[in-house]
Amino acid sequence: SQVAIVLGTRPEIIKCAPLIKACDRRGVDCLLVHTGQHYSDDLDQVFFDQLELPAPDYNLEIGSRSHGEQTGRMLEGVEDVLDEHAPDVVLVQGDTNSVLAGALAAAKSNIPVGHVEAGLRSFDRDMPEEINRVVTDHVSEYLFAPTEETRGYLERESVGGQIVVTGNTIVDSLYEYRELAAEKSDILAELGVEEGEFYLLTAHRAENVDDRENFARLLEGVSRFARETDREVVYPIHPRAQSRLDEFDLSVPEEIRTVEPLDFLDFLRAESAAALAFTDSGGVQEETCILGTPCVTLRYSTERPETAYVGANCLAGLDPDDVVEAGSTMLGKPADWDVPFGDGRAAERILDTLAAGAEPDAAEVPS
Ligand code: UD1
Ligand code: UDP
Repeated sequence: SQVAIVLGTRPEIIKCAPLIKACDRRGVDCLLVHTGQHYSDDLDQVFFDQLELPAPDYNLEIGSRSHGEQTGRMLEGVEDVLDEHAPDVVLVQGDTNSVLAGALAAAKSNIPVGHVEAGLRSFDRDMPEEINRVVTDHVSEYLFAPTEETRGYLERESVGGQIVVTGNTIVDSLYEYRELAAEKSDILAELGVEEGEFYLLTAHRAENVDDRENFARLLEGVSRFARETDREVVYPIHPRAQSRLDEFDLSVPEEIRTVEPLDFLDFLRAESAAALAFTDSGGVQEETCILGTPCVTLRYSTERPETAYVGANCLAGLDPDDVVEAGSTMLGKPADWDVPFGDGRAAERILDTLAAGAEPDAAEVPS
């Protein structure tokens, strides 16, 4: 039997890595299809190298385009690959345009789709990712929900597929790499920062950085908190955000130092060592919770509310006063929360479920 994995962006490479490796361990034939949504070395190849992943069997090289054009071209490209190989199942992970295209292409080719990280909801349909999640969940045969919370959302929407709570594969990845990051990464020395004495910032969401005023307010809140607490902010900057800064001719306050995107080990080291993380990233909300770093989320909604329920994350929005207040609340918070994303065996559970589904009588079909 053959499992196809369709991926296209940095977080998908990181979160699919445990699945690719688990296939390899079990001798499951894995067809790896890269859409080419991310193509810059530091968003793409560096993760294949560091996570020791095989080169994709296909790279569709779709690149950056408008939503419709990007998704449409991926749909066409993935369909061609599926026509040729007819895999038994197609796995997609997360909520990007690559995920939507992979899921739709498979569903329309009558190949079962497995959605890894199913059931996340921000309940904000203005986010492109929310549309991608909802559509993907509703065309999927297997819904691999990371938490009971996400299972609940899927049940309420009466999705047609089988829901299995697996934990999030990011835990699998972090358990495998966090010690290596602590041993191998020199990033703190390279940046000239001390453990516990700096803040980490990531911001790349379209709704934050594509709007000049929102982006400026985001930077203002974080820099004001840094000034008031006399610490520096390190901001590994996503290319979308960098191109908006250039386009808007927006200058970054002096408390915030932008650096190139970091590789995975360096980023994990910086995330673990930061006194606090400010972010609008989905993955960073999860990782800081797992690594024990308090997090302030620079958004008005989150599809990862579990991080806030356990006390690891505070949803601040963009208003600078609120960001400063959230920073004060979270700074120095003891990391005694429970991690809500599973035990690091998500990939194994996903492959166990697929193996059971391959034998018709063993498939568990909920009523
Ligand atoms: C995409 C996902 C987002 C995810 C993020 C992970 C969608 C709708 N968005 O956002 O959910 O959080 O990836 O990082 O799928 N660019 C480069 N090099 C690259 C890729 C992009 O320079 O390798 C620049 C281009 O200027 C491009 C811009 O980044 O126009 C945006 O890229 P795109 O793939 O459209 O969306 P992301 O912002 O990366
Ligand atoms: N990440 C990284 N280097 C960076 C920033 C992020 O390796 O400079 C990793 C991070 O560890 C996490 C993932 O990228 O696993 C998050 O991706 P991103 O924020 O781009 O996307 P999102 O999670 O918001 O979809």
